[in-house]
Amino acid sequence: MLSYESIDLYREDGFLFADPLTEKETDLLREQADREFLRDSPGRMLEKDGFTVRGVHGSHVVNSTFARLVRHPKIVTPATQLLGGPVYVHQFKINAKKALTGDVWPWHQDYIFWNLGDGMRRPDVVNVAVLLDEATDLNGPLLVLPGSHKCGSLEVARRTTVGGDGAWRSDISADLVYAIDAPLLSELTETTKVTAIKGPPGSILLFDPLLVHASGVNMAPYDRRMILVTYNRVDNPLGEVPSPRPDFLAARDNTPVRPLDPGADLFA
Ligand code: SIN
Ligand code: MN
Repeated sequence: MLSYESIDLYREDGFLFADPLTEKETDLLREQADREFLRDSPGRMLEKDGFTVRGVHGSHVVNSTFARLVRHPKIVTPATQLLGGPVYVHQFKINAKKALTGDVWPWHQDYIFWNLGDGMRRPDVVNVAVLLDEATDLNGPLLVLPGSHKCGSLEVARRTTVGGDGAWRSDISADLVYAIDAPLLSELTETTKVTAIKGPPGSILLFDPLLVHASGVNMAPYDRRMILVTYNRVDNPLGEVPSPRPDFLAARDNTPVRPLDPGADLFA
């Protein structure tokens, strides 16, 4: 459960560190993440080199550890509290950010992808990030602009990409279609300062879908693996769109997550 002070801080900054997972839980998640990276699946995305894994999507549907993780009280309870009602998993991904080869995530807000791409009507969403490795200055930590969520959905021109069936691929590549450019970033940083999300494995970060964020390349000889669970309010289902993205990017089944008992962990 989040305290009132923590909730205020989240509303103010657009992000918040919550109660971390245990070392044993994080070890299990890392082991299972590596298994998912090896599994050839439609939700697996490669870096530009064509062979380094960039991330995998939808593992909570096929892997029992991740199925349990999305019901973990340390993950789903704060999300439910912040959103004020039952939630379902809109998107689940594990980003690999491999040592030396993990590529950038350009500056962006998430909501524009879900609003324009998936027909989501309101930003009634919380992202829960779980660090699987220590995030340091060197391994491409998540960068955020505190308070930027208060700017609402920023007007960002859509970069033209190849259309067709696989158009969604650029939404999760290093060439995002709705990236924030230097003039806008410069304007935003007049009132706030880029903050790197650093911390030990097991750290949990909650962040707002309108928070401006990015991450650089991994310059370290070690990975920066991170899970991102996106919860949406059950009463904010996706609307009709001309070309719906695959289910592993935008779930259309809004069955509420059934939280594990309070105090439960990944094992029992
Ligand atoms: C994201 O913005 O969805 C991912 C950022 C990261 O893994 O650094
Ligand atoms: Mn993002």
